[in-house]
Amino acid sequence: MTAVLLPERTTRFPFPFAADSYRYSTNVEPARRVAATEAGTWGAGVLDVDGEYATELALRREVLAADPTRCQQLPHMRVAAWDALTTLLPELAATLPGVTALRVRGDRWSWRNDLTATSTSFTVGDDDSLPGGPLALLGSQIQEDVVLLDQREGSLWADAGLVTFAADWSMGFDVGMRFLEVHGPVPRVHEAGVVQRAEQFLMRLQPGQEYRRTNWTMTVDRRLDTSTETYPVWARDRRLVVDDPALPDRLHLRVEVQHLIRLGVSNAVCFLIRTYLLSLRELAAVPAWRRRLGVVLAELPEDVAEYKGLSRFRGAAVDWLRAAD
Ligand code: HEM
Repeated sequence: MTAVLLPERTTRFPFPFAADSYRYSTNVEPARRVAATEAGTWGAGVLDVDGEYATELALRREVLAADPTRCQQLPHMRVAAWDALTTLLPELAATLPGVTALRVRGDRWSWRNDLTATSTSFTVGDDDSLPGGPLALLGSQIQEDVVLLDQREGSLWADAGLVTFAADWSMGFDVGMRFLEVHGPVPRVHEAGVVQRAEQFLMRLQPGQEYRRTNWTMTVDRRLDTSTETYPVWARDRRLVVDDPALPDRLHLRVEVQHLIRLGVSNAVCFLIRTYLLSLRELAAVPAWRRRLGVVLAELPEDVAEYKGLSRFRGAAVDWLRAAD
């Protein structure tokens, strides 16, 4: 199998398993290092724009129009929200040369993006100069979901964010929570000290430092909005898919590439979540991935499988991956 024959969705997919079993860990590594997989590469930049750009931004607009609570900002996070915008717009301009233009004259910024038909000017720090605010503009330009964490009283607090593609959690519910509290529902990580170590690590990040990690779950269909708010819409598909002959096309490995960046002006931690979906059938075109996902799924402890929402279909997924071998 040569990578040339595989579609971009596969060659850029951040396949997350480095071994035949998976356990939670504080898996962070420096950002901006190209990672090689059996099918291609990923991870050259902090932001990633791909062929789903227009589709995903249109979906984000729809989700926000239906449910504005996906965007949250506690009053003291104004500076952090501007900090995120002014950190990431130059990054996006560098990621999309030719189709974007950023002009900075002191606090007066102008931004044009031909891909989103955006043309706007604003004064950094002046909310009145940017209808909707900095987080809304940022969310209309990048595929990543964003959470901003304030650091005070020896903790990180998830005090702002624009999250439309959550994997079974809710920004509206989590806003204002401490890092440890946000991770309350996750099994094993508290006893193992994973979240405590992660928080200590994040609190030591220096301005401009950028790290990344991956996380994964599985989703039925190419459904990015699996927020708690829409649970009634998507949850039962996890049961129904088991007897569906289209299971290998409907069941997707869902991988998040998460970036963690200390912002320089506000001292907030910016948490970016970029979600990738690849169906079992697409994944099985890479023999090493087909084999490894089957083994990892079969070996995954039940409490982790249950938390991730895989319990109902993991047997059927393992059977299909083995049969495809
Ligand atoms: C879930 C670890 C950073 C928010 C999780 C899970 C792990 C984890 C192991 C379970 C995932 C799964 O099985 O699907 C970490 C580590 C981090 C980190 C090691 C940093 C090094 C963050 C940050 C936020 C965050 C900065 C921002 C608020 C969440 C949320 C969930 C989650 C909302 C879902 C919790 C739920 O079920 O309600 N994290 N995380 N994480 N993480 Fe983190």
